Amino acid sequence: MTTRYEAAYRTPGYYWGKLPSKTCFKVLELMPPGRPLRLLDIGCGEGRNAVFFAWNGYHVSAFDLSKTGVDKTRALAGEAGVEIDVFQADLVGYRLDEPYDILYASGVLQYIPPELREEVLGNYQAFTAPNGLNVLNVFVHKPFIPRAPDGEDTAHAWVSGELFTHYRDWKLELCSEEIMDCTSGGVPHQHAIDRMIARKVA
Ligand SMILES: C[S@@+](CC[C@H](N)C(=O)[O-])C[C@H]1O[C@@H](n2cnc3c(N)ncnc32)[C@H](O)[C@@H]1O
Repeated sequence: MTTRYEAAYRTPGYYWGKLPSKTCFKVLELMPPGRPLRLLDIGCGEGRNAVFFAWNGYHVSAFDLSKTGVDKTRALAGEAGVEIDVFQADLVGYRLDEPYDILYASGVLQYIPPELREEVLGNYQAFTAPNGLNVLNVFVHKPFIPRAPDGEDTAHAWVSGELFTHYRDWKLELCSEEIMDCTSGGVPHQHAIDRMIARKVA
């Protein structure tokens, strides 16, 4: 089966562009790479954030379900002259078995079925080094926002605030909810999104 993003990434150019998300700058601020820091970009797409982090001196690993996304991440890293350990994996079955200082996932955790969230996040937390960060965002359900017209069957919106409840014992460096406009699929609509940067205080 060709996923929506696999098809989008096969078109010329970079679907998400080559510039990093705003949150990447917040990571630089909160945990600059003064020593070698291992960062994993979960669902890296075509690599815009992974390449930004590598370019700034982090030791970056990254994975995505999309083979073309992985290939384009590798190409973007080559273009920027940085090295990234990038591989194809499905976050539903993939579990970490080595520690990272920073786990970064943007626009991807909706692919974890609700019944697996506790276990998957438990794995991410267990393999976050002391004082490390989990930098995550999730699309959340709001009764006044209709489902996106191009919503996928494999995507499951989270309950508003749910992500934060998994991190009660961590230090929340950032925790917010916003409603954003979107035109993906060509039809204007909105998403509600919860953003969080949590620190595993040693
Ligand atoms: C909204 S895009 C975000 C891409 C990237 N994080 C960014 O900000 O540019 C969602 C990404 O999740 C990936 N994805 C979808 N299902 C996945 C899964 N089961 N495992 C890993 N990645 C998945 C898609 O291929 C796509 O690249």
